[in-house]
Amino acid sequence: MTVAVPPPPAVPASALYEPRTTMDAAPLQRPPHADMAWEWFRSIGSPKFHVAPMVDQSELPFRLLCRRHGATCAYTPMLHARIFSQDRKYREEMLTTCSEDRPLLVQFCAHEPQHLLAAARLVQDSGVADAIDINFGCPQRIAKRGGYGAFLMDDLPRVESLVRVLAQNLRIPVTAKIRIFPDLAKTVAYARMVEAAGASLVAVHGRLREQKDNSSTRADWDAIRAVKAALSVPVLANGNIRHLGDVGACLSYTGADGVLSAESLLADPALFDVPARASVAVGDVSGRGRWYSAPPLERLSLAAQYMDLVRAHPVPLRMVRGHVHKMVGDWLAEHTDLRDNINRLPPTIQLFCQVRVRVCGGVKEVCVCVYVSRFANDPVLSRHACGGHIHCVTHCRLARCSVAPCPLTSCSFLLLLLIEQC
Ligand SMILES: Cc1cc2nc3c(=O)[nH]c(=O)nc-3n(C[C@H](O)[C@H](O)[C@H](O)COP(=O)(O)O)c2cc1C
Repeated sequence: MTVAVPPPPAVPASALYEPRTTMDAAPLQRPPHADMAWEWFRSIGSPKFHVAPMVDQSELPFRLLCRRHGATCAYTPMLHARIFSQDRKYREEMLTTCSEDRPLLVQFCAHEPQHLLAAARLVQDSGVADAIDINFGCPQRIAKRGGYGAFLMDDLPRVESLVRVLAQNLRIPVTAKIRIFPDLAKTVAYARMVEAAGASLVAVHGRLREQKDNSSTRADWDAIRAVKAALSVPVLANGNIRHLGDVGACLSYTGADGVLSAESLLADPALFDVPARASVAVGDVSGRGRWYSAPPLERLSLAAQYMDLVRAHPVPLRMVRGHVHKMVGDWLAEHTDLRDNINRLPPTIQLFCQVRVRVCGGVKEVCVCVYVSRFANDPVLSRHACGGHIHCVTHCRLARCSVAPCPLTSCSFLLLLLIEQC
């Protein structure tokens, strides 16, 4: 269920956004829509684990994969509002969804408020979105040329009018994803202006516009914490969520209501899977702590699941190519013929079916390796493993195991489940 958020009163950006030298200079006022914003957030389940918006990468099959593995909300990739409002083909290709794909935040970039409103209305009227998100964080050159994303940090009255036009004219909430300024007080004033303009949720990517390389720059959780303390609507933290351990650390340090993950989720779509990842090492606030990589067996299985989702929900194959590299890139490094084909040939579903077949073959190979290495030192078990069990593994039928009683059933069960998924 979505909850209508009443439009906030019109206040000019100049009155709301005055660069300040200290946060204390700004009187804390709870905006009138804050209660409705929380009611809406609760109505979508107070989601903590968000698939971040990613151009060509947070598309439907990937969102579904992440949801099946713990994500509780997802953003679409950034859509260009003007093109979306004018071009039916773009709409049909770039925004696909299904009933499992909720809650969903549809993200737009825009320079002109009327383009943004036209695009947002189309989405609202189609009933597929829980909110419309505005991208104020894209730092790429194309955003500079188009006058959107993080380059709007140089034109705050326009930021305000983009948020406000949606808040005043839509029945579903508007949310915003922002970056930080070098100056903490300016960041907080910026976030408060976005909130006052009508945003029902603010996601803060704790990096500067100039910090484009996420892996080499630590996100500033202190800035996120300051924004959370200053705002009355839900706040999400973004940056340096590398594994499940970081989620808890980030939530407790920043006080944020949820987190977004992007790059690490591409490599491990099960990052938010609490039962599966609970034992993963905890990073600390300084950024120490190891990066996490899911075991090869599991990544191969996730890639196979992703391929199945692509079959059910076709998307442009350049997106599939990106995911295949992120999920099983190191495995493809051993299968260079396949990797070269993926890089060189026009992407076709047949090509990715080959990957799927080889990925499944890889799962079996890894199963056999795990199996043999685990039991090789046990004379009885290794005899079994080299006889009936490996036979069972390669034929994916534990039930037909000829070795009775089977001493390895429970160990084999998980591996076989993975194979069965292939
Ligand atoms: C491949 C890719 C595409 C992205 N596309 C978008 C986008 O469409 N909209 C957006 O707001 N941010 C986009 N981002 C930024 C992420 O949403 C996120 O803010 C950033 O990667 C930091 O999160 P992380 O440290 O978990 O990677 C993208 C990031 C990546 C890696």
